[in-house]
Amino acid sequence: MALLQVTSLSKDFAGLHALEGVSLSAEAGKILGIIGPNGAGKTTLFNVISGIHQPAAGEVIFMGRSLLRMKPYQISRLGIGRTFQIVRPFQNLDVETNVLVAYGHRVYPFFWKSVGRCRRPEALREVREIVEQSGLGSYANTVAKNLPLGFKKRLEIARALALKPKLLLLDEPSGGLRYEESFQLMELIRRLRDQGLGILLIEHNMPVVMDLCERIVVLDHGSKIAEGSPEEVRSNPQVIEAYLGKETGNA
Ligand SMILES: Nc1ncnc2c1ncn2[C@@H]1O[C@H](COP(=O)(O)OP(=O)(O)OP(=O)(O)O)[C@@H](O)[C@H]1O
Ligand SMILES: [Mg+2]
Repeated sequence: MALLQVTSLSKDFAGLHALEGVSLSAEAGKILGIIGPNGAGKTTLFNVISGIHQPAAGEVIFMGRSLLRMKPYQISRLGIGRTFQIVRPFQNLDVETNVLVAYGHRVYPFFWKSVGRCRRPEALREVREIVEQSGLGSYANTVAKNLPLGFKKRLEIARALALKPKLLLLDEPSGGLRYEESFQLMELIRRLRDQGLGILLIEHNMPVVMDLCERIVVLDHGSKIAEGSPEEVRSNPQVIEAYLGKETGNA
């Protein structure tokens, strides 16, 4: 059974079809790439899966359960973690405390109680492990606003991991990063995949997508126009027309 099954999903914004009949599935231990030009509906897809928006039609099944009408916090507790296109850590908290707050959201329902109660040795140990695993060990006590962008992106992933997800939704994790930084970040994503996480990866950086993803879904104007291996997608004329052509000139 697929970890996540999205079927015929549609979402409108005041008459604009942000998503139209989109179907896809994600599996544990696999990275599914989601690509498409600006405004194609990629972030909207994540917003519907994670409960920020309710769809106009369609179904989202995660581990056999429908996510429709669930609140974002319920969906994250079920095991779907996500990062945002624009990083949004608590700027004035250090890395470890940022992860601790996310951890608290999973373990305790009341945000304001969670930080104090999470300062137990076993909670701290788990949080430090996540910080290390995310390559943030040497920045554990650095205030988020002082982190270089590449490490802010890692912090976003670390906060998502604190929720112990089975599925991670990553919205342009390498956006704004230098070439080397983005490849280092992709190493982390690959490792998470190897540990068995299912990953949906929205990404504009084509070499990264082609290198990392087993399968790729292409959205354009809210519709899925192609799905397949990197090779299949790369040579699909509709994709070249809609997206790669615009990005690379003559892909
Ligand atoms: N909350 C909203 N209210 C109104 N329109 C929205 C909203 N969110 C998205 N849209 C519109 O829906 C369409 C799809 O937007 P979306 O953000 O999903 O695109 P995207 O594929 O993530 O683009 P990008 O690559 O630029 O991040 C766009 O036309 C956008 O303007
Ligand atoms: Mg987007």
